[in-house]
Amino acid sequence: MLDDKYVTEKKVEITIDGKTYYLPMVVGSEGEKAVDIRSLRAQTGCITLDSGYMNTGSCCSKITFLDGEKGILNYRGYRIEDLAEHCSFIEVAYLLLHGYLPTVGELNYFGQLLAKFALLHEDMVHFFDRYPPNAHPMSILSSMVGSLVSFYPEMVNNPLENIDLMASRLLSKLRTIAAFSYRKSLGHPLVYPRHDYSYCANFLNMMFESPVRPYEVNPVEVAALNKLLILHGDHEQNCSTSTVRMVGSARVNLYASISAGISALWGPLHGGANQAVIEMLEQIHLKGGDYKKYIERAKDPKDSFRLVGFGHRVYKSHDPRSRIIKRACDDVLSAMNMASDPLLAIAKELEEVALKDEYFIERNLYPNVDFYSGIIYRAIGIPMNMFTVMFALGRLPGWIAHWKEMWDDPDTRIGRPRQIYTGPCQREFVSIEERKLGDR
Ligand code: ACO
Repeated sequence: MLDDKYVTEKKVEITIDGKTYYLPMVVGSEGEKAVDIRSLRAQTGCITLDSGYMNTGSCCSKITFLDGEKGILNYRGYRIEDLAEHCSFIEVAYLLLHGYLPTVGELNYFGQLLAKFALLHEDMVHFFDRYPPNAHPMSILSSMVGSLVSFYPEMVNNPLENIDLMASRLLSKLRTIAAFSYRKSLGHPLVYPRHDYSYCANFLNMMFESPVRPYEVNPVEVAALNKLLILHGDHEQNCSTSTVRMVGSARVNLYASISAGISALWGPLHGGANQAVIEMLEQIHLKGGDYKKYIERAKDPKDSFRLVGFGHRVYKSHDPRSRIIKRACDDVLSAMNMASDPLLAIAKELEEVALKDEYFIERNLYPNVDFYSGIIYRAIGIPMNMFTVMFALGRLPGWIAHWKEMWDDPDTRIGRPRQIYTGPCQREFVSIEERKLGDR
């Protein structure tokens, strides 16, 4: 809700057809400015036109602050660098959901809820048998999450009272669904979650435990996964989060809203980019490693090729997450004796050249969160078609926090943008017998 304290005395003057109107100016807690245009159409008859919502604030939010020019990202006021260094993913999920960091007791209780909800209903487990083996895990994820409401409908009518239970259920079950979808795609037996493992260790164990060879969860991999999930935890009004809020604004339940967010995340311009980065690096490697050719292609206006993992809608300087991930990538690969990985070498060379190139400098194109994350996932043994699933696991607490904030906000209206119609003006109807090809 827009608190009065953020509405300034200052008014913004706008003149249309010689008549001047005054609109309120809003300044957020970190100094971001906005013109409140809610009364614009009623006063002037005009709407604003903003394809891709490049310049549109859809809500006020207390969850995440990011400054794309300065490369700052804070969750609930805490720097992402501090959270990635000191916290577990579950601690950060708690922070995003509740607005404060948990005490030891609160975190233990949250962990107990996650353990309690880790199993899937056995009827849902049978769903996996009906997907073709090459089904994309993102399609499984979105449909399974949408189905959760059929199995657990009891809380959806008073969601805010039950939000902790619903959030823990989703966080815990999404991890199980993700790992099961991978096991099923291999035709391997399912590995059930364990109460004695942490969130990330549990996930790795469900993915890689085997009846034929011993598997031990590697703490280096657990630490890397923790960091990656934290860095993906929230990113304010991105495409999938806005989708969750938009779908939820029609007063649809949390599970269906999250399922829609998962679908939005699937796209290669959003969460699918981490998979596309590895595909691109592999292609460069297979074709002899001539990365400079790809830089030239990315710059050619006649070529649709883009340097995936570069550029961001809001970061116009370094993405703070990519710096942390690059360091983590070096740490993980050297701990796993993979420091000479050819894809890492190509990625670093691409980055170095692009950062000095006028084309990328002029357009403020820097490596984004996806540029190095895929290399870490690949080192851990997570297959490429699961990369976007990993992103969804990380983003889930952010989606839930936004859904909760949206649901609780008295300012929320059903999301319904307007448009400027540019089609044919009203015309006479022609019956089917009288229509001619040339009349279109
Ligand atoms: N490689 C080459 N050129 C690029 C790239 C790129 N990766 N990204 C943008 N550009 C160029 C565009 O061609 C355009 O050039 P022009 O002004 O000469 O026409 C200019 O930079 C601005 O690009 P837009 O597409 O207008 O920027 P927008 O903010 O709409 O797009 C996006 C941002 C989608 C992330 C874009 O940079 C991109 O496609 N990147 C590659 C895909 C990617 O890595 N996606 C992951 C984003 S992070 C996330 O979702 C978690």
